[in-house]
Amino acid sequence: MSYRKQTIFDYCNLILFLFLSQQVIAADKINQPFEVGAVAAPDYYGALAAQEILKKGGNAADSAVATAFALAVTYPEAGNIGGGGFMTLWMEGKPYFIDYRETAPAAATKDMYLDENQDVIENLSLYSHKASGVPGTVAGMWAIHQRFGQLPWSAVLAPAIRFANEGFYVEQQLELRYQEVLKDAPINGNFKQYFSGLQTGNLFKQPELGQVLIRIAEQGPNGFYKGETAKLIASQMAENDGLITESDLANYQSNWREPLIANWKGMQIVTAPPPSSGGIGLIQLLLMKQNLENEFKGVVVNSPKYVHLLAEIEKRVFADRSEYMGDPDFVAVPVSQLIDPTYLLNRAKQVDPQTISVTENVQPGLSNSREKLQTTHFSIVDKWGNAASNTYTLNGWFGSAVVVKGTGIILNNEMDDFSSKPGIANQFGVVGKDANAIAPNKRPLSSMTPTIFTKDNQVVMVIGTPGGSRIFTSIFQVVANVYDNGMSLKDAVYAPRYHHQLLPKNLIFIERFQNKLSEQFKSQLEKMGYDFYQQDFSGDIQAIQVIDNVPQAVSDIRGRGKSMVIQ
Ligand code: GLY
Repeated sequence: MSYRKQTIFDYCNLILFLFLSQQVIAADKINQPFEVGAVAAPDYYGALAAQEILKKGGNAADSAVATAFALAVTYPEAGNIGGGGFMTLWMEGKPYFIDYRETAPAAATKDMYLDENQDVIENLSLYSHKASGVPGTVAGMWAIHQRFGQLPWSAVLAPAIRFANEGFYVEQQLELRYQEVLKDAPINGNFKQYFSGLQTGNLFKQPELGQVLIRIAEQGPNGFYKGETAKLIASQMAENDGLITESDLANYQSNWREPLIANWKGMQIVTAPPPSSGGIGLIQLLLMKQNLENEFKGVVVNSPKYVHLLAEIEKRVFADRSEYMGDPDFVAVPVSQLIDPTYLLNRAKQVDPQTISVTENVQPGLSNSREKLQTTHFSIVDKWGNAASNTYTLNGWFGSAVVVKGTGIILNNEMDDFSSKPGIANQFGVVGKDANAIAPNKRPLSSMTPTIFTKDNQVVMVIGTPGGSRIFTSIFQVVANVYDNGMSLKDAVYAPRYHHQLLPKNLIFIERFQNKLSEQFKSQLEKMGYDFYQQDFSGDIQAIQVIDNVPQAVSDIRGRGKSMVIQ
């Protein structure tokens, strides 16, 4: 919140920061012994927090909790304590998954975003106090630490408290995202008052957020879900037509769920179950591609034919997504049928390698989405071979852009991930149906896909990304680049990515930096019936690959991430 003029001391710190961050960037190019661990984080400070905790003797879980809290301060556009997410863990040779996704407040109703004509009221599920689900991050981090933590709770909170109170240097990408929200969102609260200091090179401090983090360090989850913080959240909600009450906060529960596990190419995929659609999506994509091995043979990566085959597979995944997926505590999601190898073999057989399918004929197989792109992910391994893959979010950049007065907490706009009106696309253009309708205490469907690959009971890859509906199609392409196409992790992550989500019809999403696609590439796909939609970027992959006990960490070229192998 606070912004002051820089002093010589601040400039010295900035130079030190730039020097150190270069050291960190260089680290992803070096193969170092697997002596402590590795991190790929979406910003420099997140990587620093992970490093600090690993060096203090913390494990991957401690380090992940510290990074999540640190990013709530230094990556305020998506890192959070006012949002929620998922973490996939591999601890002492066993897989775990925790769901700390936001829940709809108790007073939420199926048609809360519809007007008297049953039309969706613009922006109500995006930029209002009504847009927020009950935050889950603090409860999730507490549960992870209670189960696996080695260091004291206060130690894992320490880096975040320091970054909030002593400040961090703002990178240009963060300032641009702040400007983007100011330009695009109908902001009428105190967002500017809190975040106008987000100017490139500024030392940015958040003393109120620092106080909340100290309360959490001292009182555990009660420092957020009860007492002063809860009262401040609930009273601002009550004054602004919001729904979250003190009892919603006190009742919030994170959930340990069975992770989804599938075999692929001699490895195990350990990934996110519902309420994420991402794990099912990723498994469907990888298995269908494998079933189409003959069709992919000899096809140049990212050639028109390759992109067509990807698009055809992706369409089928999105058809299933819209029909069957929602919060498994409220609807029966046919998970095992959706990832059944025979089902996916038959699904893959429907793909014609030469011809684009008629969209209307791509029906859910046992029978669309618009989540925000702006989530964030980090991946960590420790020296014991444990791993944490964490994706969490406020939904849009800076969530609802509602800041809780007296706390500096930005609240999510995750309610937009529900189907406000079944059949109508959300902000990602994806359509949901009744399985994802709003109900009190229900979790909205997500695409977040924090994933770990293991082989012979050892971690071989930890991967994830933001990107809304592009999350699992991005991870799919990077994983296929590494394991099918023989690329190094870095080349695999940096390569262009394509996305198709069934609707809008026949549209291939390309990234901004691909606007120089060759005319020949474009015209071949156009002849088949495709059109192109240029999006900003497709994800911000943070990945670690372990080869012969040597971890390599890579942060996507698309973001401001930093990766380190830590000796
Ligand atoms: N809000 C983005 C997601 O949950 O996938």
